[in-house]
Amino acid sequence: MDMKIVLLGPPGCGKGTQAERLTANLKFTKISTGDLLREAVRLNTPLGQQAKQFMDAGKLVPDELVIGLIKEKLADIKGPVLLDGFPRSLEQARRLDELTKIDLAIDIGVNEEKLVKRIVLRRSCKNCGAVYHLEFSPPKVEGKCDKCGNELYQRSDDTEATVRERLKTYNDKTLPLANYYKQKGILRTVDGEGDISEVYDRIVKVLKAK
Ligand code: AP5
Ligand code: MG
Ligand code: ZN
Repeated sequence: MDMKIVLLGPPGCGKGTQAERLTANLKFTKISTGDLLREAVRLNTPLGQQAKQFMDAGKLVPDELVIGLIKEKLADIKGPVLLDGFPRSLEQARRLDELTKIDLAIDIGVNEEKLVKRIVLRRSCKNCGAVYHLEFSPPKVEGKCDKCGNELYQRSDDTEATVRERLKTYNDKTLPLANYYKQKGILRTVDGEGDISEVYDRIVKVLKAK
């Protein structure tokens, strides 16, 4: 069966990092709305122009825009899918259920102060989206992506002030989703603290138990 999995959890909990490993090792196709929106901003498309102000303010981009994006992507993919950063509101979760059947929602939990530290020292690849951390997961060559050799940069929403806003938005809009999936019996929570491989192993265990 082609599983469809949602990765839940606050900004900085490791959704992108773990999605990267899961797609490399387990044949999942990843859809990251954050990555897709950043790409739209970079290319200055109409979607990017509309999304930018919300992203820089640490707010959610309006549901209609993001749902349109997901609809298009889901239609293109065959095989197991991993959703990173979608859904993020109850409206998005309900609309997703109309589009496809979700098998598991994995909620990655990390303490709030640790999240801030993870995010302000994050570096991301401009080209392939790979994620690094100056202290916990540095690239082999300073400023360069291990995977594709391109330049690393700091996301414009990775300042402490914006991270605090993103955490507020998360608590307000996204946290209720845990309960939504719990009621459906498909929520699994994973401890997101400890090193990246430990968290990865916990996620794989949850997948194998399904
Ligand atoms: P998005 O890009 O999804 O950002 P986010 O949810 O805030 O999550 P992050 O990407 O910041 O964190 P992550 O969980 O992926 O952590 P990572 O693996 O990088 O969204 C950005 C914006 O786009 C939103 O604010 C919103 O405006 C908009 N948007 C996106 N989706 C939307 C939607 N569905 N609806 C509406 N708007 C939407 O890890 C973080 C750092 O920690 C890295 O440096 C990493 O190396 C390090 N790290 C990871 N794991 C560990 C570990 N175990 N130990 C130590 N360090 C670790
Ligand atoms: Mg991410
Ligand atoms: Zn790269």
